Amino acid sequence: MDRRLHYGNTAKILHWSVAVLLLVQFPIGWFMPDIHAGPPGAAMSLHVSFGILILAVVAVRLIWRITHPVAPESSLPGWQRVSSEAVHWLLYALVLGTTLTGWLFASFRGWSLSLFSIVPLPMLASKSASDLKLMEGWHQVAEWALLVVIVLHISAALLHIFVYRDGVMRLMLIDEHQRP
Ligand code: HEM
Ligand code: HEM
Repeated sequence: MDRRLHYGNTAKILHWSVAVLLLVQFPIGWFMPDIHAGPPGAAMSLHVSFGILILAVVAVRLIWRITHPVAPESSLPGWQRVSSEAVHWLLYALVLGTTLTGWLFASFRGWSLSLFSIVPLPMLASKSASDLKLMEGWHQVAEWALLVVIVLHISAALLHIFVYRDGVMRLMLIDEHQRP
């Protein structure tokens, strides 16, 4: 499949939607009072709903990315092209890892989950105290690894804006003249 030279507006809108949703999701996770307890209260229910929304948007984004591949900026040195692509795939893997560990964790606790109290969500596994113990900590590992890689990704974007002063940041800015 031919690789495009630019992200289309669909890829850009999906990118920024995930960024905004994560900006909301981390603080909910850190500040929700009903953490480590059950059944889920209002904050935890919101955390689950935002988490599943993130999973859905990232799944669409991943399919879009695979069917609309974009070539790395040709002016970049080889090591930057390889490392930025590696970081992008790592971001996809870590978002999937964080959402799926969270969903599994809630399932092992036997919670009945829903999307914003509207759409009932299936459990990924049945209630199990032993599996819950095995899973302990993995959601935290995934969310911290994701945060570290996001900081790396944003630092690279800032480096391109303020130090290299090249067109990399422009690749992800919404441009109304561009095709989807
Ligand atoms: C990318 C999406 C997500 C992020 C960034 C995220 C982040 C967090 C954070 C920061 C915490 C508090 C720290 C801790 O783990 O002790 C947390 C806890 C938790 N999250 Fe998530 N989460 C995400 C998705 C989900 C999803 C989809 C679910 C369930 C369907 C979920 C269920 C939970 C549960 C059950 C806890 C409490 C863990 C415990 O009791 O130890 N999370 N999450
Ligand atoms: C202030 C926050 C952010 C900025 C300034 C930013 C900037 C950028 C830029 C400039 C690119 C294009 C780079 C290139 O193609 O070489 C890009 C791509 C990408 N970004 Fe971000 N980003 C941000 C947040 C995030 C977050 C939170 C995630 C996900 C966890 C993310 C995931 C990705 C991925 C996976 C790509 C590759 C393109 C794609 O698959 O759609 N970004 N970002």
